[in-house]
Amino acid sequence: MEINIERMKASELNRVAEIAVQEIYPGASITEMKQWIKSVGDPTKVNPYVQWFVAKLKTDSKIVGFVGYDAFDFDFKGNQVMLIQTWLAVDREYQRRKIGTELVKTALKEVCDYWRGVGRKPVMVFIETDEPDQRARKFYEKVYQQPDAKILKDVWGRGGGTVFYFKKLDFVN
Ligand SMILES: CC(C)(COP(=O)(O)OP(=O)(O)OC[C@H]1O[C@@H](n2cnc3c(N)ncnc32)[C@H](O)[C@@H]1OP(=O)(O)O)[C@@H](O)C(=O)NCCC(=O)NCCS
Repeated sequence: MEINIERMKASELNRVAEIAVQEIYPGASITEMKQWIKSVGDPTKVNPYVQWFVAKLKTDSKIVGFVGYDAFDFDFKGNQVMLIQTWLAVDREYQRRKIGTELVKTALKEVCDYWRGVGRKPVMVFIETDEPDQRARKFYEKVYQQPDAKILKDVWGRGGGTVFYFKKLDFVN
């Protein structure tokens, strides 16, 4: 499936919120999700700290996935930056066709290039997901090339643990 990975435009917020509700938070409303995305990093404003990307079908430009990277921490002495991956989702009709992989690889490279371009070296990325979510875990372990992981058991209740992944960014060139 041929796709383009592009920076998200303000006009695309609704579709991104739709995918987030469908794939990550089925209990949320689109309005709530839009507010939440905007509070993390408003795509209607210029904001280098949170950078959003969408995957679009080459055929009709339909948005089928999205991801965001936030600047999690700075080391102002050494001019280094740690990133955090915010939400990532691919519309279920298009999953398992390497769109998630392409989203992460392309977006992460663009974000790293951005930070290097303003004189800040990206050193680490941090990702969190649910412990029982084997699909997301397999995905992250593959796309981030065996990141270090810390599992915190029973956070959301019994069996509802959470996994924190950490990966040094020397693998992004
Ligand atoms: C996780 C997610 C983004 C993966 O996107 P995707 O485009 O389907 O993933 P890819 O096709 O790039 O898969 C890459 C690798 O991830 C792993 N993977 C992906 N889906 C998998 C599944 N259903 N079962 C097992 N492994 C899976 C595989 O190792 C796969 O490589 P392979 O196909 O060569 O075996 C997608 O399943 C999704 O949107 N899920 C719902 C939202 C979510 O969980 N987001 C992340 C946590 S918030």
